[in-house]
Amino acid sequence: MKSAVSFDENYWRGRYATGRTGWDAGAVTPPLRDYFNQLEPDYARRILIPGAGNAYEAEYLHGLGFSQVFVADLAPEPLAALQQRVPGFPAAHLLQQDFFELPAAPPYDLIVEQTFFCALAPHLRPAYARQCAHLLRPGGTLAGLLFDTDFGPATEPPFGGTREEYRAYFEPYFDFVHFDTATNSLRPRQGRELFISLRRKLVL
Ligand SMILES: C[S@@+](CC[C@H](N)C(=O)[O-])C[C@H]1O[C@@H](n2cnc3c(N)ncnc32)[C@H](O)[C@@H]1O
Repeated sequence: MKSAVSFDENYWRGRYATGRTGWDAGAVTPPLRDYFNQLEPDYARRILIPGAGNAYEAEYLHGLGFSQVFVADLAPEPLAALQQRVPGFPAAHLLQQDFFELPAAPPYDLIVEQTFFCALAPHLRPAYARQCAHLLRPGGTLAGLLFDTDFGPATEPPFGGTREEYRAYFEPYFDFVHFDTATNSLRPRQGRELFISLRRKLVL
């Protein structure tokens, strides 16, 4: 599935090169840290973080002992930064690829979302939901954060949205386990993001 990427590798490399990276929290964010801490210690669980950027979440999961964590990003710089910070992170798990072109086999057990969905051109949102479902095993989980806020008219990321809009994208493929305002967001994001945990339907 090609994404017809509206904001392509050059666009994102330019944002890293010019330091326009306001999304970068500099550390694992509290909602994801707390979510990871309560995961069953099935360390072979295949976990994908798409649009991972500097991937502090991957670093955290790796530190907890999860050995099958994969990060995908169009831009090579943040992947190299992860490798430099965490030399033991497997190089083969750094995927410099378009999320929409990632192969579905073997399937993932968990996909982690944080400021990737909002970085996509909004017309790609239905395809994002479809591709997450395609990449996950039946019963697998898409978990993470989605902005529940209006950033006003925008010509470049981030793009906001509402929970009502998001429901329509995910309902065809997922059962909603949790879908509510995050209670432990970073201060600038407080009250403005949803924590989601969606279970991929057994039959699509
Ligand atoms: C807003 S940043 C978020 C980075 C990271 N998730 C975080 O929270 O710090 C969006 C990231 O998605 C990457 N990206 C954008 N489109 C992509 C695509 N189609 N496939 C893979 N990565 C993509 C960009 O290079 C960028 O690193």
